[in-house]
Amino acid sequence: MAEKWTPENWRSKPIVQVPTYPDLAKVEEVEERLRNSPPLVFAGEARNLKKELAKVCEGEAFLLQGGDCAESFAEFHPDAIRDTFRVLLQMAVVLTYGSSQPVVKVGRIAGQFAKPRSSDVEEIDGVTLPSYRGDIINGIDFTEEARIPNPERQLQAYSQAASTLNLIRAFASGGYADLDYVHKWTLGFVSDSPETARYEEMANRITEAMNFMKACGVNSSTTPQLAATSFYTSHEALLLGYEQALTRIDSTTGDWYDTSAHMLWIGDRTRQFDHAHIDFLSGVKNPIGMKCGPSMDPDDLLRIIDKLNPENEAGRLTLIARFGAGNVEKHLPKLIRAVEREGHKVVWSCDPMHGNTIKASTGYKTRPVDRVLAEVQEFMGVHSAEGTHAGGVHFEMTGKNVTECIGGTHPVTEGDLSSRYHTHCDPRLNANQALDLAFLISEGLKKERDTSSDRMTALA
Ligand code: TRP
Ligand code: MN
Repeated sequence: MAEKWTPENWRSKPIVQVPTYPDLAKVEEVEERLRNSPPLVFAGEARNLKKELAKVCEGEAFLLQGGDCAESFAEFHPDAIRDTFRVLLQMAVVLTYGSSQPVVKVGRIAGQFAKPRSSDVEEIDGVTLPSYRGDIINGIDFTEEARIPNPERQLQAYSQAASTLNLIRAFASGGYADLDYVHKWTLGFVSDSPETARYEEMANRITEAMNFMKACGVNSSTTPQLAATSFYTSHEALLLGYEQALTRIDSTTGDWYDTSAHMLWIGDRTRQFDHAHIDFLSGVKNPIGMKCGPSMDPDDLLRIIDKLNPENEAGRLTLIARFGAGNVEKHLPKLIRAVEREGHKVVWSCDPMHGNTIKASTGYKTRPVDRVLAEVQEFMGVHSAEGTHAGGVHFEMTGKNVTECIGGTHPVTEGDLSSRYHTHCDPRLNANQALDLAFLISEGLKKERDTSSDRMTALA
């Protein structure tokens, strides 16, 4: 008989990518405080997201998931939240308009604080210190003091997540996201770019359609769908003590939900079958994601899917492929075929960021926008060849005018990287580059739609 799952089960499993806290009594005290703090999301919202993702699974919607690589305490500011939110709105509207499909909007936001690292230590000029693991664990400054894992940081992360979520909820339903304002979501600093011109043109068409509908008596007050949007939060469930402390039984169903975010994902480095992270997420009912990199093998994938989604529930599991441009055809088809053969219901999403990180000659970690776009195109090409739905994208972006990824139609050069390189971890797309990505995907989705309607006509 399978062992009964409990939120602390993971503690008896092997685990990687965890901090070593010097003061365990302090950790216990912080977790106790978190256990007594209100949930950040309500289980019913996580179920709504699952329903929306089930539509993606069925090929009738598209998942847009994006935000910072790592949120930080230093960059915490209402303007930063607003700017990220509005770029996501712009992208969503481009995708909705282009594909004539609903777009499921999920931010890497309000909790994306913990980072897996390739090395436990960082060495600079002969000095070796523990690696920075995200603001929820330690500080980014290269000093001995900052790098000591401090459990108190979890309380600050919780509080920042709570106020970020509060603002996002207000934006999503308080009028900011009203389609009447489609022209106002453009950021000032991108006003002269080709993407903005293209966006303006599309926004004009939307306004025209809205005006026509208004004349017919349909407007944001008669039709709340025009005035508000659903926006969900997500992060990597890496720091399991924190996640456990926010995991609660939902009184309406009796099921466990991790209430730190609507959706949680497992990283490519912590998806070992018998390990703690898979165990933890197998027991909560939230929609979950799993990153799949080049080392994922089809049999292993099937075994993990059985564990994470034993009831084969649509919308429960999103597989986030991250192979790098040029590698998608080598890895993705065999995974898709294995999943299809077994009849597993999953959402396929593409993370075109993490397989395309390079070091610029100036020493900065960067990502060429061309490679990012190429990976998305390869992903869509493979799905089209396999007859499956390219369900979504997962990317790292910010609404700030940063220079972290090179290229784009308003090109950032290697020499520009130093001017506004603000990320605490990986390089992010800026607003222009993100919008470019949205237009590219919307063209791909339109093609997917045309091909599938051709197929339907041929069958009829
Ligand atoms: N409610 C719809 C949706 O979320 C339409 C909508 C309202 C919308 N505001 C939006 C779509 C902003 C995209 C962006 O899809
Ligand atoms: Mn990252």
